[in-house]
Order: sequence, then C-alpha cells, then structure tokens
Amino acid sequence: MAIDSAFISDLKFRCPIEEVIGGYVNLKRAGSRYVACCPFHNEKTPSFTVFTDTSSYYCFGCGAGGDVITFIMNRESLDYIDAVRLLADRAGLTMPEDRSIPESNKRQRERMLEMHNISARHFYKNLAAGNNEAVRYLEKRGLTMQSVKRYGLGFAKDSYDDLKNLLIARGYSLQEMTAAGLIVNKNGSYYDKFRNRLMFPVIDLRGNVVAFSGRTLAADGIPKYINSPDTEIYHKGNILFGLNLAKDKNNGTLILCEGNIDVVMLAQAGFKNSVAPLGTAFTVDQARRIAQYAKTVIIAFDSDSAGQKATSKAIDYLKNQGVSVRILQMQGAKDPDEYIKTYGKDRFAMLISQSKTPTEYQIDKLREKFDLNDTAQKMEYISQSSQVIAALSSEIEREIYAAALAKELEISVQTVKADIERRRKIMVKSQHRKVMSAEQQQVVGVGDSINRQRRDNLLASRAEETLIAILCRNPDLLNEITENISDTDFVTDFNRQVFRFVTDSFKNDSSVQNLSFNSVFDSAQTSKITFLLNTAILSDDIRMQAQDCIRTIKSQKTKKIDAAQLDAEQLMSLIKKGDKKDEY
Ligand code: UTP
Ligand code: MN
Repeated sequence: MAIDSAFISDLKFRCPIEEVIGGYVNLKRAGSRYVACCPFHNEKTPSFTVFTDTSSYYCFGCGAGGDVITFIMNRESLDYIDAVRLLADRAGLTMPEDRSIPESNKRQRERMLEMHNISARHFYKNLAAGNNEAVRYLEKRGLTMQSVKRYGLGFAKDSYDDLKNLLIARGYSLQEMTAAGLIVNKNGSYYDKFRNRLMFPVIDLRGNVVAFSGRTLAADGIPKYINSPDTEIYHKGNILFGLNLAKDKNNGTLILCEGNIDVVMLAQAGFKNSVAPLGTAFTVDQARRIAQYAKTVIIAFDSDSAGQKATSKAIDYLKNQGVSVRILQMQGAKDPDEYIKTYGKDRFAMLISQSKTPTEYQIDKLREKFDLNDTAQKMEYISQSSQVIAALSSEIEREIYAAALAKELEISVQTVKADIERRRKIMVKSQHRKVMSAEQQQVVGVGDSINRQRRDNLLASRAEETLIAILCRNPDLLNEITENISDTDFVTDFNRQVFRFVTDSFKNDSSVQNLSFNSVFDSAQTSKITFLLNTAILSDDIRMQAQDCIRTIKSQKTKKIDAAQLDAEQLMSLIKKGDKKDEY
C-alpha cells in the first residue's frame, strides 16, 4: 500500500532525522554530520553517521543506511507502514490510511487480548481457590499471596480442557484460541497448552495481558517453562517480564535477572525494580526498551557459565543504548531468588552496592583466567587488561583504571598509562582505516552485489553515481540535467533505476529530504544509494561536473552499442585476436 507522498514529506519534516535517531543513540556533532556507535552492529569507535543535509544516515562499518523511516524499520523491526505509523504517532499525525486496515484485523487483535485477559483471571481464580498444587508449590518456594496478587500469578489445572471449555463458553472459536497460543491443535484435536503449571502473565506497558509463561509444578516436569508463541499481540524479543510494574518504581535503576521467579522474589524482598527477558536470550530490542525507563541497569544473571556469557552480551547491548551498566556477582547461590532465600535481602542490598562497572567486571574475569604468580601469565594479564582499558573512550576512566591496575601489580602508573595510550592510538587508527577503506572501496567499487554491472563499467557507473548525487543534492539542476541526458542513456541498470526514481520524484517534490528510496528499493539497495548520495565528492563547479558526467556516460554508452552492433564477422576476428580490452 502506497502512502501519499505529501504525507511522507510532512512526516519527515516533523521528524528531523537527528532528533529521531538521537533518541536511540548518543549522537555527537562532527561538522555538518553527527556520528555515533552504530546501533546495528557492535563497535567501539563510531562509524555510524547522520547527514543532516540529506536527511539520511549511513554506517561506514556495516553498510546500513537510509532515511528516518528506514532507520525505524530496522531499529524497531517494523515494515514500512508500521514504521511510518510509529513516526506519525510520535509527530502527532493521523495516518491517512488508517481506514485501510481491515476492521476485521483490529477486531481479531481485540479478541485475542480479551481471551488473554479472561485466561489470566481464570488462572488466578484457580489458584486463589486454595488447596491446590500451585499454592503448595508457592509455599515451598516462600512466595506470598501478596506477590501472587502483585504479579497476577495463576494456576493452570492438570486438565486438557479447563481453559478451552471456558473460552468456548465465552464465544471464542478454536481457531482464535489456537492463533492466540492458548490452545494447541494436534492432528485436529484441540487441548489446553498450559497444564499443571504456575502461570506468569506477561503484561505489556499498557497493562494488557499479551502472553503467558508457565512453570511446571511436576517435580521433573519437562520443559521447565512453557511460553506463549509470538502472536499478533506478543513479540517476545521486545517485552520484559515485570517492566509494567518496575517502570514506575525504579528511580532510574532496573535490576535485570534471568528468571520470572527471580523477579517475583526480588520484589517480595523489596527490590521492586526487577525485570527479566522471557525465555529468550536478552535482545537488542529489550535493551532499547529498558533504556527508555532506566539510566542504570544492574545485571544480576545466574552465576553459572551460561549466565556469565549472557552478561557480556547484555553489557554490550545496554552500553550501546547509552545505559550505565553495573554487574552484580553472587557467590554461594545460583540466582537472586536462591541468594535471597539463603542470605536474606540485606546481603543482597550489599551485593547491589558492590556491583561492578563493566570494565571492573571484564578485568575480574581476566584475573580469574590467569595465574598471576607466573610471570608470563601475569604479562598476558596486564596486556589484556590494558587492551580493555584502552577501549574506553573517556580519558578520565582510562586514567582511573590504569591507576588501579598499576597499584594492583606494583608497576608505575606512568608505565601502565603510556602503554594504554599507545594501544588506544593503534585502536583508533585501525578503526579509522577500516572506515576509510570501506569508503574508498565503495567509491572505487570493486565487488558490488547491488550493481552487478558496475565492475565491468567502472568509468560509466562512477559518472552515473556522481551525476545522481549532484542531482539529489541540487534539485534545482533537474531541468538542466534532464535536458541533456535521460535514463535510457545510462549504462548500468541499477543506476538507471535510481536516476529515474529521483527525476520522477523531483517532478512532484524537489527536495532530497523527501526522497523515499525505501518505498521502491530494498534495504541493501537503499543503503547503497544513501552511501553514494552522501560520499560522492562534488567539485566547486557542479554544473561543469554534471556536464562531464553526462559526457562520460554517453560516450561509454556509445561504445557499448558499437560493440553490440559489430557484425558477426568483425566479432569473430576480434575474438580471435583475443582482444579483451574492449567491453561488451
Ligand atoms: P532457569 O532455569 O534459571 O529457571 O531459567 P528459574 O527462573 O531459576 O526457575 P526456577 O527457580 O527453577 O523455578 C530462567 C528463565 O529461562 C526461561 C524462563 O523465562 C526462566 O524464567 N526458561 C527456562 C524457559 O523459557 N524454558 C525453560 O525450559 C527453562
Ligand atoms: Mn531459580
């Protein structure tokens, strides 16, 4: 479905790209550009660039690029329409096409939410009736009725049709229940998905129950947890268990743990600011969600090796969101729930106050890895720790950790500091080189998977690209350019399409900001075009440069046509001569 281009222009006008992207990453001004660490790949020095003059972004590290809509599509994993809708919401605009969403879809979603609401109440009622497996289990684990109420916990009976019958009685079809993930369909027989389980409703930030996570009540029940599948109303990658409650009770700090039970137990002990990912590894989207509600996150994952691995990833994701991260380390217990039960809440509060910065955490991990009584290993420890410190962008931080390292190993601060600064220089240089070479490679264009004809038509395609960039950045030259060249003169098909798109678009709205490449081109193509647009080197006399480009394109085209029109005889003799210099 195409959205009216006037609406898109208005939307883009009201959603300045640097403001929108600035809400996701920490943009730093660099001349007319802004730079940041790329939200689409992991990096330590910034290669993600926002170009305000063309209202676009491009990452020289990973090649992602586009306009503000592309950014939202990629960042929020939305399709074009939903990305536009999100921005429209933000700008306070009403979508022109809202009537085009079938009424039936909206109704379907509403009914799915209703079913979840009914189910959650039902599970809660089952539990509150008392004298059942769930109540006994909660007692054994030391969870109170107050916690049950706070989180709306419930009990799915050991029955194949307890919920099914209720939902049928309320007028829902088996298809609807199955689509909602509450009922399973196996070879045409329908039955309750959650049986004999302690039920944790998953509640979104608006207070809707959108899914369930159910813990087995059987001693050896497998799997331990069953979670709702992704549905119309539930995308597990971007929701966190407990955030609906924690978001208002956190004073800017959230505790991130692994399990639902940890969240409930922590709240019961007074730490009401706890959240957990649901049955998935912690995702970038969850990090983003968290960043909206907390300045600081204390990671309190399990103390086993899986938990520690997950910790490193979570640190990266959260830091990329500009969140300040602390890592809580437990000894003598596997998770917060166990820790609090064993040592009490005061000791847990102490762990919070002793939680480490990511750098301290990383250096701790290194210290465990090496035997510091062995000189060779000690050297390796210093070297790897220095590398960690060198990656910090703040000089003050580098100074602090350098001093700590020097003190620990009884080496002079100056020596440690000099070593770290030397490493830092190399690191920055190599990153810079990477960016530069990505830039050069594209401009010179060797392997190009987007424009496959480029390799064999370097001269022409470079001229085409420069001409496109000149036109995009100088819409007032539209007539002058199109009077002298048309898309049919282009040598490579991809550039021809881009040129045609730009000239067509400019007929209605001649501003580069309103070019929506992603409405026609896929994301790799859009990235490539954005790159060309922003990196073409334009001379002072763009008119002359444009004429040069046009001449080059046309002469290359003629050459190709000439080659194609050689008669068979000439062709044969050419081939015999083995003349490979000419292009066909
Ligand atoms: P754990 O195995 O650490 O469970 O899984 P837990 O939360 O400590 O539970 P208890 O203390 O044994 O009752 C942590 C989280 O991983 C997901 C759940 O979200 C769980 O809370 N998980 C675990 C699953 O999705 N499926 C499983 O089979 C196990
Ligand atoms: Mn546990």
